[in-house]
Amino acid sequence: MNVPWTALLLLGLWTDWAQALDNGLALTPPMGWLHWERFLCNTDCAKDPHNCISEQLFMQMADLMVSDGWKEAGYEYVSIDDCWLADTRDAQNRLQPDPKRFPSGISKLADYVHSKGLKLGIYEDVGCQTCAGFPGSSGFYELDAHTFASWGVDLLKFDGCNYGSLDLLAEGYRNMSLALNKTGRSIVYSCEWPAYMKPFKQPNYTEIREYCNYWRNFNDIYDSWDSIKSILDWTAGCQNLIVPAAGPGGWNDPDMLIIGNFGLSWDQQITQMALWAIMAAPLIMSNDLRSIDPKSKALLQNKEVIAINQDPLGKQGYRVSKVKNFELWERPLSGGALAVAVVNRQEIGSPRYYVLPMSFLGKGLACKINCVVTQLLPTHKTMGLQNSTSAIQVLVNPTGTALLKVTAIGGTRHKLLSHSYPRQSMDIL
Ligand code: GLA
Repeated sequence: MNVPWTALLLLGLWTDWAQALDNGLALTPPMGWLHWERFLCNTDCAKDPHNCISEQLFMQMADLMVSDGWKEAGYEYVSIDDCWLADTRDAQNRLQPDPKRFPSGISKLADYVHSKGLKLGIYEDVGCQTCAGFPGSSGFYELDAHTFASWGVDLLKFDGCNYGSLDLLAEGYRNMSLALNKTGRSIVYSCEWPAYMKPFKQPNYTEIREYCNYWRNFNDIYDSWDSIKSILDWTAGCQNLIVPAAGPGGWNDPDMLIIGNFGLSWDQQITQMALWAIMAAPLIMSNDLRSIDPKSKALLQNKEVIAINQDPLGKQGYRVSKVKNFELWERPLSGGALAVAVVNRQEIGSPRYYVLPMSFLGKGLACKINCVVTQLLPTHKTMGLQNSTSAIQVLVNPTGTALLKVTAIGGTRHKLLSHSYPRQSMDIL
């Protein structure tokens, strides 16, 4: 069939067909704040007014997002997770927030968040109940999408508890995506479809990417190093499947940033920030912006690291090797640059040196002739001009990470397009 290209464009069938949810959103990984990991389902405002899930909590976070530099750093979505709903729908079957904890209603909260130049995210579930037992969206996808749009919601996290069957799970995720699209409002669609499907059936990421802007694949994050490790190990173990699925418009979501909470040491916080940048992960914090310590705040607002996360090429990084308890990860960046993370997975002893020959990076293309290497984490440090035969040495604390950026100079620009990993071992001191 000979179809003119203008007709293909009009039909939206140009080369990107069926690759990403075509709502023009999440061209880089979304950034924001979400209440779940830090505030869970705390509904007891009588006992704990400061920390319960209420409109006040989200208004306070919105205020701080602006006054404390979060918005300027790129964090945009203030998002509500589970436990915002009343126990029942209203007489017209519409969702309604808990009247005591959200007395002004979600529409007013959205207005408030928008008045700060931010966006509002909300939570629902594909099944008959949310994970915490509040009314789910099953049977009401169009009505709920319409309600969210009429309130001025900008992002929906759609959970997968109580879904009934795998067919209903898939159908529900597809239907909510279509229903959101039909509203005509720009609403980022965050899914947990593969996370719920994976124990029973291999998810079809081509399809998931057609319907979702980002998607959880794995367990909920906890405030612990064990949790971070399990996410990194799972991601590296499944990278052949999930890395090619990520790109502008659709991202793998390893879950919230827990930096600034209780469970991670300073080095482990650095590891989370560095690896979430390498993984092109949505940067969705769950912490208390009212009391976060200045070091964690600076880490979360580190411009150079955020720039890696938000790189416009939109390629997710991958683990290249794991040798002697060192992991090497890399992520191709726009302009032929490369981000590199060296994680020291040894949980005993002192900081250890890792020697990194330039020829080993980006299949030897990142520093084909000359390149400049800059360390971004744990501290900003220029590591000078390198060439294809030189090597650098980084010192990495136990459970910490060195994050580097390699920028080619004077050589031909190149593209690191294929994913060929893992590669084999290298010298380690
Ligand atoms: C699931 C999700 C979490 C959170 C809770 C809320 O466990 O994976 O991220 O939304 O439900 O109940």
